This record gives sequence, C-alpha cells and structure tokens, in this order.
Amino acid sequence: MAVEVRPFAASLGAEIAGIDLSQPVGAADRAALTRALGDHLALVFRDQALTPEQYLSAAEVFGPPMRQHYSQHNMEDFPNIGLVWHRNGQKPAEAWHTDHTNREKPPAATILYGVEIPSEGGGTSVANMRAAYLALPEAERTKLRGLRTVNTLDDTHDDTRPEDVEKFGVPIVHPMVRTHPVHGSDAVYFHITKTKHIEGMTPADSRAYLQDLLDRIIEPGIAYTHQWRKGDVLVIDDRATLHRAHGDYDRSESRVLWRIIVEGDRPILVQ
Ligand SMILES: [Fe+2]
Repeated sequence: MAVEVRPFAASLGAEIAGIDLSQPVGAADRAALTRALGDHLALVFRDQALTPEQYLSAAEVFGPPMRQHYSQHNMEDFPNIGLVWHRNGQKPAEAWHTDHTNREKPPAATILYGVEIPSEGGGTSVANMRAAYLALPEAERTKLRGLRTVNTLDDTHDDTRPEDVEKFGVPIVHPMVRTHPVHGSDAVYFHITKTKHIEGMTPADSRAYLQDLLDRIIEPGIAYTHQWRKGDVLVIDDRATLHRAHGDYDRSESRVLWRIIVEGDRPILVQ
C-alpha cells in the first residue's frame, strides 16, 4: 500500500498513514515522503514500534544520519541516536531554533521518536519559516536576502566536551534566507544562539536584531504543536522551520525522545 499524506489544517504538518517504518521503505514511498516533507515541513507517523537499528534505517529515507555534537547525550551503542531526556541533565530546548547550523551541511531533517511520554504537556512546536518569510514587508525580505550568519556551537551550554568543541566549533557562514532544494521556495534560516554574529554587525547588535525578528515572525498562525503519544515519529524539515520543546510537564514523569538528524545540502539562496 502506498503512503497516504493527510495534511493538517495548520500552516504546516501532515500525518502519514499506511507505512510501518520497521520495514524497508520502497523507492516510490521514499520519493513521496521526500516530497511530502518539502511540501508540509513536519510529518507525523503514529503507532510505530522501532528498535534502534530499524529507526536508523527508516531515517535514511530523509538522508544519511549524522553525528550529533553534544556527544554526551548520544546512545552508547548507537551514537547516531541522541537521547532527549531531562534525567540526562538536559534542559528542554524551549527557545525557537533549527538544529546544528554550525555544520557546513546542516541537517535536512530532525527526526524524533516518542519512547516515553509524560501524561500531560511536553509537546514539540514547529513554525513555518517559509510563511514567516512571506509575511515580512518587502523591504525586510530584501534586507534579509543580503545577510549571512556566522555559526558555531551555542554559548549557552557549559557541558560541551572538548573534542566536540574542536570538531564542531569551527565558524561556518550561512545565508539568512535559504532556498529549499526540493520545494524551491525561500525561508528565513538562523539559529539565534549558534549565530556568533551577522556579517558586518557586532555580536550584540546581531543578537538584538535576531531576537526582535523572532518576536515578530513567530505567531500562532504559522506554528503546529505536536502533542506526543508513545510510538509517534515526528520528522521536522530543518531547512524551512524553527522548532522548540515545551518543558510544561511533570518532572517526576519521564520523557524520552530518540533523536536522529540527517545530513542535508549546504544552504544556498537562489537570487
Ligand atoms: Fe532542536
């Protein structure tokens, strides 16, 4: 049976039915899922039951899994799977961001699998940066098209391993508007705490501008909040969205997500 794409009413997101991700995915379904991700930006697969090996091969549909740079949170036997788990000492990433912009080829997608889910709260929100871009005044769209960010590891983490700083802390420049390689549309693209500065601006002015931009572009009309059920797989298109965690759950309950990021293209802006 071919996959069925059921778009949400929200400005992004679709549920994918008719697929068991523990089984190999055929060429036609792979192509349909690549297209669906580019079109809908967040894909939800319900009721999956996956071993780490099965999860890693399912993720390949969207690109080759890449190593995550906060290696202290990676699964010991499967280092391409990161554990999102507050009992690991992690704080929920509640600020809007896209992942791993300090890489030359940042992830095309972040994939999350719900393994332990609290009874209430703990959702994941995704915002449509294609819609955010189109909603900006034309003068600001033009301004953004000329800006580039210089990215490195976050300055907000104090437990980064020295070997990760060495491997992943090399500054890398990306356009602030990028053209989606599948969809062809443009989207606002930046990670506020991985941006050391915008080229030609001081770090302080860059941070102030990015914060002001976030405050203006993120609004409920362009966001989807995923309320987790155990067995959900959520695929987020990192090329045209920002996402955030919600820490509004009872910390005596467990919340475990397995995270895989898959390599994408080097961001470019087609003028
Ligand atoms: Fe993230």
